Amino acid sequence: MKKQDVVQLVLGKQYQKNPVCSFAKSFAPTNIALCKYWGKRNQELNLPITSSLSVSLAHKGATTEIKVNDKDYDVIYCNFPPLKKGDKRGILIRHPERSEGSPAQQEILSADSPFAKKLIEYLNLFRTKDSHFFDIYLETNIPIAAGLASSACGFAAMIQALNHLYDWQLSPQALSILARLGSGSASRSVFSGFVEWHMGDKIDGMDSYAELLPDVWPELCMGLLIVSDQEKTISSREAMQLTVETSSLYSVWPKQVKKDLAALKQAISAQDFILLGQTAETNAMSMHATMLSACPSITYYLPETLVLMKKIWQLRKEGLPVYFTQDAGANLKLLFEEKQLKIVSELFPKIEIIKPFSSL
Ligand code: PMV
Repeated sequence: MKKQDVVQLVLGKQYQKNPVCSFAKSFAPTNIALCKYWGKRNQELNLPITSSLSVSLAHKGATTEIKVNDKDYDVIYCNFPPLKKGDKRGILIRHPERSEGSPAQQEILSADSPFAKKLIEYLNLFRTKDSHFFDIYLETNIPIAAGLASSACGFAAMIQALNHLYDWQLSPQALSILARLGSGSASRSVFSGFVEWHMGDKIDGMDSYAELLPDVWPELCMGLLIVSDQEKTISSREAMQLTVETSSLYSVWPKQVKKDLAALKQAISAQDFILLGQTAETNAMSMHATMLSACPSITYYLPETLVLMKKIWQLRKEGLPVYFTQDAGANLKLLFEEKQLKIVSELFPKIEIIKPFSSL
């Protein structure tokens, strides 16, 4: 089964209809998993081996604007790499399938970048070949590709904008399925708050979508500890696959996830911070342990990551309830409650603090 088949299933009679307006805009928050998605049972459809649970980061995310243009190629402007040093903020990317009628060479900064290809491939799922093209403006307020789930909010914002542009009037569940085709964790970014992505077991993945949990936790804080904003050395897609195929520890991962999901849901409904923090941290460490035992071994740790971890463990020993989680990058995300906000800001001067429930 191909992505295109799923799009057809979800859109039904609306499949490949033309845009009903010429402009649409949407924002989606990024999300940080407290119980990670690590391993796919279907590479094409981004179907996971386990369920996962995340919290969305309020105003931190991606804004996408789409305009139908009168050109015969897509133009993508973005405020983040793949810009090279010295490039202007906007980049122009021609449609990879077309060579003639392309814009001036100096404007084509990154036509063949994997980023452009991935995005245009995604857009092509929803339109007939050559029917219409877009000017796309992408803006994120998080470091891209540094383990901060930038593709998650990017694809979620994109599918929401397309939903307006084509006036599909899709349910959040359907949007979650379509966002997943762009990137797995994007399925969770169509919601704000605590979100569970159900793994599902159908071959077509129609039961693999995210759902909002009803709980809110206004005192919960997340602190971004940026160790590096460099592109990761290995993509999460590759790292996941290598882990599933070669790590002897991977066989225990699904059991761990089941246990952690139950504990996190209990922690969330009882607002038990210690249980939440401890479970999220152990879950992240276990995910990285499966990577370390892959062949060849994968690690996203930088020396600074380990220094930070040790600092957090020492602070906990001294009685400060702070925990961390880590994704496919060197950065850590600190978990703590609002009453610790002042001390945490003093202890970590460069931290960027987000209250996931502040805008709900
Ligand atoms: O959706 P992807 O392909 O970017 O993978 C995300 C993987 C992790 O961030 C490490 C875990 C997660 O659940 O977000």
